[in-house]
Amino acid sequence: MEKTLVMLKPGVLQRRIVGEVLSRFERKGLKIVALRLLNLDRAAVETHYREHKGKDFYEKLLEYTLSGPVIALILEGENAIGMVRRLVGPTDVRESLPGTIRGDYACRTRLNIVHASDSPDSAEREIALFFKPQDIVEWKDENAPWF
Ligand SMILES: Nc1ncnc2c1ncn2[C@@H]1O[C@H](COP(=O)(O)OP(=O)(O)O)[C@@H](O)[C@H]1O
Ligand SMILES: [Mg+2]
Repeated sequence: MEKTLVMLKPGVLQRRIVGEVLSRFERKGLKIVALRLLNLDRAAVETHYREHKGKDFYEKLLEYTLSGPVIALILEGENAIGMVRRLVGPTDVRESLPGTIRGDYACRTRLNIVHASDSPDSAEREIALFFKPQDIVEWKDENAPWF
């Protein structure tokens, strides 16, 4: 089973829509196997977004990500990485369609409210950034065959 890292950016808590956003992933059938609420420090955000260092939106992206607490979670499921990216929608809010999280909740790309890993390599790296192996709770739902 694939695991992927999702981070609800500060706007999600600020707008009191944590439950709504998490329910998008739950109703799809993805399984939460780790979850935490935390304030990131600048070093952690720099590591998380290191591939964007030097880009014109980098400083603003850091500023937004540091503007309040975030929720980090690990979702598990078959093809979870691609599935979560599709639920989240494209980065550019001009392209994210209604029905996707960004399409429904974001009107600025910089404030596009959720982060999701984009590949197996980034999922592994990002999971390790937020969680220790013992924070991951493996659980079975054999009595829920609809998933
Ligand atoms: N052109 C842009 N203008 C403003 N912010 C941007 C732009 N491109 C990306 N960002 C911000 O940086 C984050 C990381 O970018 P990227 O990794 O390309 O997208 P994604 O979050 O979809 O993986 C985006 O989620 C968005 O908040
Ligand atoms: Mg990215």
